[in-house]
Amino acid sequence: MFSNESFIQQYGSYFLKGTGITIALTILGVLFGTILGTLLALMKRAKNFIVHWIAVIYIEYFRGTPLLVQVFMIYFGTQIMGLDLSAFTSAAIALALNSGAYVSEIIRSGIEAVPVGQTEAARSLGISQSDSMRFVILPQAVRTILPALGNEFISLLKESAIVSVIGVGELMFETSVIQGASFKPFSPLVITSFIYFALTLLLSAGLSHFEKRMKLGRPK
Ligand code: ARG
Repeated sequence: MFSNESFIQQYGSYFLKGTGITIALTILGVLFGTILGTLLALMKRAKNFIVHWIAVIYIEYFRGTPLLVQVFMIYFGTQIMGLDLSAFTSAAIALALNSGAYVSEIIRSGIEAVPVGQTEAARSLGISQSDSMRFVILPQAVRTILPALGNEFISLLKESAIVSVIGVGELMFETSVIQGASFKPFSPLVITSFIYFALTLLLSAGLSHFEKRMKLGRPK
């Protein structure tokens, strides 16, 4: 039927659009997830009992329930609340809320990997509690946090395929559109898998390059 037009010529733009939205969702998810995760990590370490437990319950809930359920809950829950959010916005929120729980544990373990002597030294120099966290502990924790954060980036990129269930036009959604339009159930999936694979390869290559650079000048 479309003999003089190749599959890619015909559906390339769908793949491209889907890939763009997948990347956008992942970046938004990791970005806001990191902000939320930092907050949660600090809350979990807080001495205040209530603040600590709010963080614990949040983290356990979002890690202990399927992302699929969370995506549906945000999508329909915001509708019931009268918020007229697009599927894209709901998806970005769900990914960020989910990622925040994972990122908080990454950040917390990064903070805890910094020897306690660093805090003691900072505090004994008269630096306040919050300033020693900001200027002494967090900058050192970054070395542990960044590589793990990169892995979270890769996970979230793959997990973002789930939001196709609420009709966000990301890569997986566009793939099912192509499957339907072309009557080809298999080959679009192969292309899609390679797109995801290329993206994750690129990310992990960037990550290991970055890690090597961070090791430079570090005492053995
Ligand atoms: N697929 C799992 C779930 O449904 C893992 C989600 C992973 N999320 C993340 N931000 N790394 O719960």
